[in-house]
Order: sequence, then C-alpha cells, then structure tokens
Amino acid sequence: MFKHIEHYPGDPILGLVETFNQDSRPEKVNLGIGIYFDEDGKLPVLKCVRTAEIQRAETAQPRSYLPMEGLVAYRTAVQKLLFGADNPALQQERIATIQTLGGSGALKVGADFLHRWFPQAKVYVSDPTWDNHKSIFEGAGFEVGTYPYYNPETIGVKYDEMLAFFKQLPENSILLLHPCCHNPTGVDLSENQWDELLETVKNNKLIPFMDIAYQGFGEDLDNDAYAIRKAVSMNLPLFVSNSFSKNLSFYGERVGGLSIVCPNKEEAALVFGQLKFTVRRIYSSPPAHGAFITAAVMDSEELFAVWQQEVNEMRDRIRQMRRKLYDALTAKLPGKDFSYFIKQRGMFSYTGLSPEQVQRLQDEFAVYLVGSGRMCVAGLNSRNIDYVAEAFAAVLK
Ligand code: LMR
Repeated sequence: MFKHIEHYPGDPILGLVETFNQDSRPEKVNLGIGIYFDEDGKLPVLKCVRTAEIQRAETAQPRSYLPMEGLVAYRTAVQKLLFGADNPALQQERIATIQTLGGSGALKVGADFLHRWFPQAKVYVSDPTWDNHKSIFEGAGFEVGTYPYYNPETIGVKYDEMLAFFKQLPENSILLLHPCCHNPTGVDLSENQWDELLETVKNNKLIPFMDIAYQGFGEDLDNDAYAIRKAVSMNLPLFVSNSFSKNLSFYGERVGGLSIVCPNKEEAALVFGQLKFTVRRIYSSPPAHGAFITAAVMDSEELFAVWQQEVNEMRDRIRQMRRKLYDALTAKLPGKDFSYFIKQRGMFSYTGLSPEQVQRLQDEFAVYLVGSGRMCVAGLNSRNIDYVAEAFAAVLK
C-alpha cells in the first residue's frame, strides 16, 4: 500500500540533531540547530520562568481547553512586546493576534490564511533563508521564489538589488522578512535601509510578513522590533510571526504568536475570525502551560525585569563568543579576515565554509554546522572554543 511513498531525506537542521545525538565522540560540539546553550553547554531554565512556574504550581490549575485564538493575557503580552505598549494601533484595536504553536505554527496559520484570501499571490523569501520558510509556504500551496539578500563578497546585504527587486514585484506579492538577527546569515538591514525599503513595500502594495524569532539577541527587545514598529507607524498591513523559543528558552513549549496589523478595527475583527477558523481546522486550540507562564512573566514588572536581564546576558555571551572566535582564528590564520564573526548579529554566523569543509568538520572533528555553513554561535563556550577554532583553522588552511 505504501510502496509509492517517497523517501524523506530528512530536515537539514533537525536531521543534523539526530546525527549529532548518535555521535559517540566525547569532543563533539553542536553548532547546528539554533538553540542557546549556556557557558556550561546546558540549555538554561530561565529564573523568570522557574519563578512563574513555582507560583503557578502552588494552586491546582484545571486544564480546560484554551479558546481557538489562545490565552487572552498571552496575546496581550505578545502585542505589547512586539508593537510597544503605547502603540496607537493597539488602542485602535486594529491588530489581530493569536497564540500559535511556536514561530513555525504562526507561519503555517499565516500561510494558510493568506492562501485562502490571496490565492494568486506569490511568496518571496530571502536568498538564503531558514529552510523551513520555503517548506511551510509551499506546504500551504504557494509558489515560493527568492529575493536577493546575502552578498558573500561583502558579507553584507545586496541592498540595492533587493530594493530593485521589490520595486518590480506585482501588487500583493508576499515578502517574508527577518526584522532582526537574520537566519541563517546574521546580516541585518540598517534602520535607514528599512525605512526606504518599507516605503517601496507601501508604494507597491506588497504584503510584508515579518518573522521575528530572535527578539533581544541583536540589540535589545525594543530595538530589535524597529522594522515592525516602523511598518505599523506607516500604516502598512503587516503579518508578524513571533516566538519565545529562544528568548525565553522555551523551545518545547511551542509558544509563538501570529499578529496581523489591519487598516482598522472592523477589518481586524474579520481577520481575527478567519484566524480562529484556520486554527480550528488544523489543531482546534493551542496548549496552555507555556502561554500561562509567558503571560505571567510579561505581566509582572519584577519578572519582566528579570527576563530582560536574562535576555541581555544571553546576547552578551553570544557576543563574547564571537569575539573569542575572531581572536583565536585571527591568531591562527593572520592572513584571513574574520571580522564578519563580530559584525554579524544574533545567534547565527554564516561562516562561508563550503559544504565539503562543513562535512570535514563533522567527520574529522565532530564539530557540527548546518551544510550551508551556518554556525550557531550560542553552542560555543570557553571550554570548546579553542577546539572549534583549531578545527576551523584545519579545514580553512
Ligand atoms: C534553527 O533555525 O535552527 C531553529 O529555528 C530551529 C529549527 O526549527 O530549525
């Protein structure tokens, strides 16, 4: 019966985790998946999360279904974090926000919604992007193309080409954008570039879909939302998918959100209704625990301050690792320019290593990077960094 089923070659990121877990070499280093590990190489349980969980466990909590759109306190918290508590669009009630199963869930619900209401549209993702972006939108029935983004020569953005590409797109083309900490390159647009680009998005009536999974890992929680808030202030229609996987170290709880910024309250109500229907048709309603804890952290002034501090610490540790790797490699290979390690932002660094070099790192040194050459800097710590630099130098010689 199932003979005709095609073989699944595995996911380039999650498949690598499976291979890494099976590797018995004690020196192995996981720089593949985008997970923040602390200085001890452990997945942290944040203090703010622990406190909220203890408080919640003290009273018996009935486990009813959440509504299709998720927990109201959580949805409000998502809106404040993304758009800023005093954003007029919130008072105007023109943002429809639902709780989703992580950032991937938000992308999926957003993609299904868009395909239902804009079936003729085409989706464009950055070249390169997170592999799953393409899969999710194709899975929803879209044709997915790419727009120019990364320039390996300058290790920056092909900004002029990107802008020119946007200018010739037909109305209602959907643009998947990374507001901060671009995955996989770590190369972001400047604020001025965002300003200009969003003008084009507005003039050409394109549909921006901003996927923010690393808020707080670039500059800080507010500055990383610059592009989102700018788009709202320009009265653009906007889709935003967000995730607490990384900045709350809440990966397995699948806490994310989808927000659609609409021109007015009436349209937001229509959109909200259809988002609920989309959720009902896929999984009915989201899980509760992660949303209760996230809302408790965001709603308490004290816990929010603790959280902010913890996000800053994670960001700073990643920056230190970038600097250390830069120093170590510059010392080993003085002829080469490794400044990109310190210029790139967020969890990822596009190393420029070829697939063959990445394979050598894995085979000869048990150092795991994604085949594209993407490295998760947050997998480095002061115990493995010299070993990793040694391995890099060996394959770069
Ligand atoms: C990543 O890019 O490594 C993360 O977002 C995890 C994932 O699901 O791919």
